[in-house]
Amino acid sequence: MARTLITSALPYINGIKHLGNLVGSMLPADVYARFMRARGNEVMFICATDEHGTPAELAAIAAGQDVATYCAEQHEIQKDIYKRFGLSFDHFGRSSSQQNYELTQHFAAMLNANGLIEERTIQQIYSIDDGRYLPDRYVEGTCPHCGYERARGDQCENCTKLLDPTDLINPRSAVSGSTNLEVRDTRHLFLKLDNPEVEAKIQSWIDSKEKDWPVLVTSIAQKWLKEGLRDRCITRDLAWGVPVGRPGYEGKVYYVWFDAPIEYIAATKEWADAAPEEKRDWKRWWFEADDVRYTEFMAKDNIPFHTVSFPATIMGSGEAWKLVDYIKGFNWLTWYGGKFSTSQRRGIFTDQALAEFPADYWRYVLIANAPETDDSSFTLEGFAGQVNKDLADVLGNFVNRTLKFTQSKFGDAVPAGGDYGPAEEALAKALDERIKALTENLEAIQYRKALAELRAIWVLGNQYLADEAPWTALKTDPERAAAITRCAFSLIRLFAILSAPVIPTLAGKMLAALGLPENQPWPTESTGDLIRAIPAGHAFTLPDVLVAKIDDARVAELTEKYGGKA
Ligand code: MF3
Ligand code: ZN
Repeated sequence: MARTLITSALPYINGIKHLGNLVGSMLPADVYARFMRARGNEVMFICATDEHGTPAELAAIAAGQDVATYCAEQHEIQKDIYKRFGLSFDHFGRSSSQQNYELTQHFAAMLNANGLIEERTIQQIYSIDDGRYLPDRYVEGTCPHCGYERARGDQCENCTKLLDPTDLINPRSAVSGSTNLEVRDTRHLFLKLDNPEVEAKIQSWIDSKEKDWPVLVTSIAQKWLKEGLRDRCITRDLAWGVPVGRPGYEGKVYYVWFDAPIEYIAATKEWADAAPEEKRDWKRWWFEADDVRYTEFMAKDNIPFHTVSFPATIMGSGEAWKLVDYIKGFNWLTWYGGKFSTSQRRGIFTDQALAEFPADYWRYVLIANAPETDDSSFTLEGFAGQVNKDLADVLGNFVNRTLKFTQSKFGDAVPAGGDYGPAEEALAKALDERIKALTENLEAIQYRKALAELRAIWVLGNQYLADEAPWTALKTDPERAAAITRCAFSLIRLFAILSAPVIPTLAGKMLAALGLPENQPWPTESTGDLIRAIPAGHAFTLPDVLVAKIDDARVAELTEKYGGKA
């Protein structure tokens, strides 16, 4: 059995994520994990909350909580939301776990042993009143470029220029507001990426992926390589994080971007440790695992860290840890052409989305419009339009029509009698081509194309019913009407299986109506057999309305509530 390792970029702990975050990594990773499981692969699907760094500490301060409590609570909140979205992680871990502390320290020790870590003295801002160093975002002040008065030490929100805290004019502490600051010398660890050997290794590795990986991913990696890699400071003056644990490094931890990707591995160890009685083997997914195919999902801002920094950590360890085989990167989902923004609460957040509509409505529309080759705009009007047209009018209608018609004319079981003819032969042929294309596009993780095929498959079903009109046939040739009905039942089963990676709950309801269990394998038999899968006499039940339409009044209400505008 082929083994497939899948990771989604780890969502930051600092608050509930918006729909853009969801479609940028976790949701597409889930669709792939579900598809690969249905194909019979052994899948390990890993995600976690990314809990370290200044954003976590600052969010905890803003919430009036100590950071450990804040992270524990926020982790549970996010975990629950993802469960309700149907994200089928094998484990959803925490980068603040003991497992990650140990593994991060292990990688640092190996890099150090291999001469890839260097200690340097740098200048940092120290707050006398706070009694601590103030890393990047802990310092605020006036931007030297545009004069914006609330610029952060890492970046000016107004003009987007990257800053160093010491660049700021009139700097003050973001913790206390104190301006009683001074610049002090302090020692930190640097990962030596500006080094011909490391650069050459990464360069040839990226070159070898050039033909295979999305252009978005390789072009960002190549741009970084071309500019020349820079040594990176991998420690920070913070209390919350993985302790450096060297003499003289009290009160210092590893930089969040150093420990976060290591959590992919550590979370797999968390998964194993969570069930000691099962003797789960986490290492066979990550160590000397040449037969594992590893795919990462992420939004484009994460690409440099996954194509350069993290691989440098893996390679630099000199140990046989798994390197990624394929990276699926995403552009941005926009909110009416503008930015979704967590800080300004612009857009729809994942908890709000679930309070409005079933998860599958969002899953379908987000995946159908995944920002694969370009940014993609989310609008409430577009959302309602696609739910109504594709899910309600095409898929839902097909299922409801078939089941209702059958129940009223034939009772609670699939009718016997009659034969398949040229119409079914043509249908099977058309389905064959579409299923092949759908499968290929899912394998290639081309979701827009895959969903166009999926929808076309549903349309074939509707078309078949409309053309063959069993309700008309019933009057002249009841045997023929029975055959058409049987075929339609097999289509319901087929559509459920093919749709399950994207809309697992709806697919589960369709299968349940036919008395079939969820998680059916992806079809491998020929389509001629697929349209005979449900035999005469098979019992069924009528589900509640599968997909409810969203009317204009509801759209107007949502537009008002979430501030959507064209
Ligand atoms: N938390 C980061 C973000 O949201 C992603 C971290 S991915 C990992 O952009 F590699 F660090 F795990
Ligand atoms: Zn500025």
